[in-house]
Amino acid sequence: MKMTLSSTILRFLTIVILFASTSQSFQDCEKVEGKGIIITGASKGIGREIAKQLSKCNVNLMAVGRNVENLESLQEFMTSNNEKGTFTTLSIDVAKEGNPKKLVQKALTQFNKIDHVFFSHALLGNYSHFTGLEEDFDLIRQMMEVNFYSVTRLIAEITKYSKGYIPNFIIFSSQLVAEPHPTTFAYCVSKSALIAFAKTLQFKLYQKQISVKIVDVPGTDTHGLYTSHKIFYHNYNNKERSSKLGKDFDEFFELKVKPHLADVKDVAEDIILSALGNEEHVDLVEKHKRHSEL
Ligand SMILES: NC(=O)c1ccc[n+]([C@@H]2O[C@H](COP(=O)([O-])OP(=O)(O)OC[C@H]3O[C@@H](n4cnc5c(N)ncnc54)[C@H](OP(=O)(O)O)[C@@H]3O)[C@@H](O)[C@H]2O)c1
Repeated sequence: MKMTLSSTILRFLTIVILFASTSQSFQDCEKVEGKGIIITGASKGIGREIAKQLSKCNVNLMAVGRNVENLESLQEFMTSNNEKGTFTTLSIDVAKEGNPKKLVQKALTQFNKIDHVFFSHALLGNYSHFTGLEEDFDLIRQMMEVNFYSVTRLIAEITKYSKGYIPNFIIFSSQLVAEPHPTTFAYCVSKSALIAFAKTLQFKLYQKQISVKIVDVPGTDTHGLYTSHKIFYHNYNNKERSSKLGKDFDEFFELKVKPHLADVKDVAEDIILSALGNEEHVDLVEKHKRHSEL
């Protein structure tokens, strides 16, 4: 009897755990069945998680990034998790001249039609103050190339080939567009330009039935952001604060930063749902707001 009860409890717990672990990812595969999907910034972070969640559906997916090792491990994951769709990865620097065209041509040889493009790639803030020196302008240029111009070039390239159907562009915004901060000046400038561009496209492309969606992404527990926070604290106030707390620096960050950030799986799922919904501008920041203050 004891055994039966414990095995029943165990089975119940397994079901609960299985349900809990699958409920954090995109389930509504019918909505993307057979679609041609490009995800930039898919080698890590939110883009990689979006690729993983969509790869469970019958889609034609191209995952883009630069880091070959990360892309190979993603390819392995995608191949072992889905037999129906087609998956490729492309290692390319999207900010380099000529590469947006290459990327689009490669995608069109894999699938006839590009239905959704998730622009997840970005250089994140490096948390240095603007001082007006030449290096600051170099950083702005670099960020503009990656975060702004590469997206505009990719959109221009894709719309050349999208006659007679409706591609859906998903643009990733940040809280820092509404609340720019001097320590992330170059990131703020590039993302603000991107969002202004996306908003003008929403006017212009609406008549052509090309859809542009802007998603306000919350602070998310991706390696990139977590590392940036660490650099920031390390540069500005870490030593005193962390030693006051009597904690090791890493432990300090586990305790103070991680609870503040949203879960990457939840955010990826919400971005996919936003992409498939009707709203032009979706704010995920409020939804994922954490109450703990740093
Ligand atoms: N994480 C957050 O808290 C947060 C908050 C607000 C908004 N967002 C936005 O959400 C998006 C994803 O953020 P994330 O945290 O997932 O970023 P992440 O972990 O730093 O990943 C960035 C991705 O962009 C790719 N990338 C960067 N430069 C590239 C280039 N020149 N060519 C090709 N790929 C390039 C990287 O690939 P390689 O390293 O392989 O090149 C990587 O896959 C970004 O647009 C970001 O601005 C994030």
